[in-house]
Amino acid sequence: MVSMIIRDATHADLGAILEIHNAAIRDSLAIWTEEEADLADREAWLADHEAVGHPVLVAEVEGRVAGYAAYGPWRSKTGYRFTVENSVYVHDDFQRRGIGRALMVELIERARAAGIHVMVAAIEAGNAGSIAMHRALGFEEPVVLREVGTKFGQWLDVAFLRLELSSGPPM
Ligand SMILES: CC(C)(COP(=O)(O)OP(=O)(O)OC[C@H]1O[C@@H](n2cnc3c(N)ncnc32)[C@H](O)[C@@H]1OP(=O)(O)O)[C@@H](O)C(=O)NCCC(=O)NCCS
Repeated sequence: MVSMIIRDATHADLGAILEIHNAAIRDSLAIWTEEEADLADREAWLADHEAVGHPVLVAEVEGRVAGYAAYGPWRSKTGYRFTVENSVYVHDDFQRRGIGRALMVELIERARAAGIHVMVAAIEAGNAGSIAMHRALGFEEPVVLREVGTKFGQWLDVAFLRLELSSGPPM
């Protein structure tokens, strides 16, 4: 595993986060939009997370932001308040060196400490690498909804994976 620092993101990281985010939009099926974001969009995204205490983490390798992870509400109605949806992205240059896993280990710890009961990953069903990483972290077997999305002229299936973080009744 590469030597890295996992820490909370700051506004100074947003340029690097934007680069990773837009590469995923351009070149992959991981984010279901074909419209790239700008810095103002990422500023608003970080501010939204900070306003409600939801973490945005970055992995720093030799002073470079190599990846990031975050969670936000899974669905908006209050009954879903103990469930979050995670996202995790690692720059192409840094993949398969333990960075995604390290980001997720810290993100899961933060969610547990915040009293979150369930984390859900929503992954394009053909993304075997991401599904394998989440399964290795303890997420349950995927539940697949077929053809609920589209990008690059094809239907896309979403795989939902669930990780339970706590036991006991809701508080
Ligand atoms: C998915 C992603 C976050 C994984 O991050 P990463 O830093 O490359 O993954 P890690 O090195 O931490 O891998 C951890 C484990 O996940 C599994 N894994 C990761 N990538 C894999 C791949 N391409 N194929 C198979 N297994 C893979 C392995 O079990 C791996 O452990 P190992 O290397 O000891 O075998 C990264 O590849 C990525 O950003 N991909 C593009 C965007 C994306 O798909 N994001 C997720 C959207 S939900």
